[in-house]
Amino acid sequence: MNQLGSKILGTQRLILRPFRASDAEQAFGNWMSDPAVAHFLTWTPHKDVSFTRKLLAAWEEEAKSPDVYHWAVVWRETRAVIGDLSVVSADRRSGRAEVGYCLSRAFRGRGVMTEALSAAIGYLFREAGFLRIEAKHAAGNPASGRVMEKCGMRTEGTLRKYFRLLSTGELTDIVVRAVLREEWERGACGDERAARKISLHLCGNEV
Ligand SMILES: CC(C)(COP(=O)(O)OP(=O)(O)OC[C@H]1O[C@@H](n2cnc3c(N)ncnc32)[C@H](O)[C@@H]1OP(=O)(O)O)[C@@H](O)C(=O)NCCC(=O)NCCS
Repeated sequence: MNQLGSKILGTQRLILRPFRASDAEQAFGNWMSDPAVAHFLTWTPHKDVSFTRKLLAAWEEEAKSPDVYHWAVVWRETRAVIGDLSVVSADRRSGRAEVGYCLSRAFRGRGVMTEALSAAIGYLFREAGFLRIEAKHAAGNPASGRVMEKCGMRTEGTLRKYFRLLSTGELTDIVVRAVLREEWERGACGDERAARKISLHLCGNEV
């Protein structure tokens, strides 16, 4: 394993870079205060931008660690901060990382998160040296499952009545998906071959 941290990544339409405290207004306005985005997630919508600012200041510090993989998803054309993508847990001994993500509603349905996740998976396998990337989604959130599927993640099973949603209090089933490095390398799964065409490069100090 190589501890490289949240290097800046670029795709055709996106830049993935560490968060900054100064992203707070955009992050709050674009998704962090939006109940529709948080509906299936492990956090509640922010009520006040000062909370977002404190959180992002902490993330800005954390991202200096080579152990942390956490990116703001930035729309290249306008430099607007539109989403969040991170390794939420990792077992380095086993080479395993779990990823999580969310996106501003205004950017849904255009392949944005597939493009971002594909870039992150490529980096985590090829540069950081992980062997397995996994993710979980609520059974009632098929759009997220489809993003994983398009990035080559196979369904491994369903954790029944696994998570009580913060939004409704309802107990939900959680679907587990994963892709192994060897599957990724041979382009074996789903639409992942198309996703691999997305150019991934390290952007240095572009932003
Ligand atoms: C889930 C989320 C990340 C998707 O991002 P996105 O950029 O819109 O995703 P993409 O456009 O790359 O792909 C979405 C896919 O889901 C499909 N989809 C959307 N709604 C769907 C539904 N109700 N049922 C089945 N598929 C659906 C789309 O058609 C698309 O697939 P396609 O390209 O084969 O047509 C975004 O909606 C989001 O942030 N949601 C809230 C937070 C969240 O749920 N995060 C994930 C937690 S596990």
